[in-house]
Amino acid sequence: MNPLALDLNEQLTQSNPVILDMLSDLGKHMFYPKGILSQSAEAKSTKYNATIGMATDDSGKLYSQTIFDLYQHLDPEEIFPYAPPQGIEELRGLWEEKILQENTDLTQKQISRPIVTNALTHGLSLLADLFVNSGDTVLLPKQNWGNYKLIFNTRHGAELQTYSIFDEDNHYTTDGFVSALENYNNDKVILLLNYPNNPTGYTPTASEVEEISKAIKNLADRGTKVIAIIDDAYFGLFYEDVYTQSIFSALTQIESPNILPVRLDGATKEFFAWGLRVGFITFGIKDEMTKAVLEAKVKGLIRSNISSGPMPSQSAVKYVLQPEHREQFEKDIQKHIDTLKERYEVTKSVVYDEKYKDDWKTYDFNSGYFMAIQVNGVNAETLRKHLIEKYSIGTIALNDTDIRVAFSCIEKDDIPHVFDSIAKGIEDLKA
Ligand SMILES: Cc1ncc(COP(=O)(O)O)c(C=O)c1O
Repeated sequence: MNPLALDLNEQLTQSNPVILDMLSDLGKHMFYPKGILSQSAEAKSTKYNATIGMATDDSGKLYSQTIFDLYQHLDPEEIFPYAPPQGIEELRGLWEEKILQENTDLTQKQISRPIVTNALTHGLSLLADLFVNSGDTVLLPKQNWGNYKLIFNTRHGAELQTYSIFDEDNHYTTDGFVSALENYNNDKVILLLNYPNNPTGYTPTASEVEEISKAIKNLADRGTKVIAIIDDAYFGLFYEDVYTQSIFSALTQIESPNILPVRLDGATKEFFAWGLRVGFITFGIKDEMTKAVLEAKVKGLIRSNISSGPMPSQSAVKYVLQPEHREQFEKDIQKHIDTLKERYEVTKSVVYDEKYKDDWKTYDFNSGYFMAIQVNGVNAETLRKHLIEKYSIGTIALNDTDIRVAFSCIEKDDIPHVFDSIAKGIEDLKA
């Protein structure tokens, strides 16, 4: 059991042992992790808060004016009734069109109609409900989003096995993935693929995606049933020549009965609408009966869990995808993507400077909200606290050596100062 859960249970033993007895096994195992949210809370009053998974500038959140305005345009019928468990039908159709436009290798026949979720976390949890038994293996990169552990391991008792996606020089490599799959011997595996990657901001190139696909095909050909969950939270935030379709698109092209690609995407980061809580689950399957069965099962899971998602949020996403609003909306969003790209360029020009070569080694990055560095000679958590106290800079300590910096939340002109201060912080601690 996680030490934090043990600690909570111990407190309950003292304050109310009867309630501890009442808890289910899951209730006993549950805890609130000291992950990104608590590190973010500690950095709340910093001047340069590079901890959070949102995008901001000096005046506040980067959001779409079209979404903000629309609440005056929605009809009461688009706000107050229950949405169906699978989501508003028109929204499902519009999102499907969007998927097909952005993933040109996909055809409508190859995918199920997207089911609306209460954003991506809910989608992950539903897929865990649907596919994960206690003891099943989830294979994921060492560099991953911390919430996967809570969802797949704490909630469902899956065994998480990690592989590295970076070599000793912190360059991206598919070697770790390929060898993890070559050495895999069970009859079922759940793969979690998340690119642009949180926390490192890396997206593979087209040839790297080919290597990933080939390794998955080989594993499936050896008889392992592969559920490939593609977490596309940061889809579209690409700043270099990478594979700009979803990996879901590549995996759906593989002819194998043993591979089930499932895509999770949504408005959260793509539409700069974190609090709306609108996401989608799409299966990469052709067979109509299988599509209908999986949809019925996911609907049942939603019905028995949140009953249905919020109507106003779904109506908002539907509104901006409608042809008459889409052009203006895409302009809003492109402006923010351009802002992030400019910050990415500045970050790239700063972090590889020779003067920092003794301070950190940068993980390859080319997309998304974040980048990560491996710091030299100091503990990442000690550095994180020191940066808050002495330099008013909030970062995320990922482990003993790595720090995540969200350039999505740092104005372009402040980026050089932030990295200069991180270097100073490292030198302070070494002295
Ligand atoms: C990789 C990844 N997946 C999923 C999510 C969750 O997204 P949502 O807010 O839509 O639940 C996040 C949020 O930070 C994320 O970084």
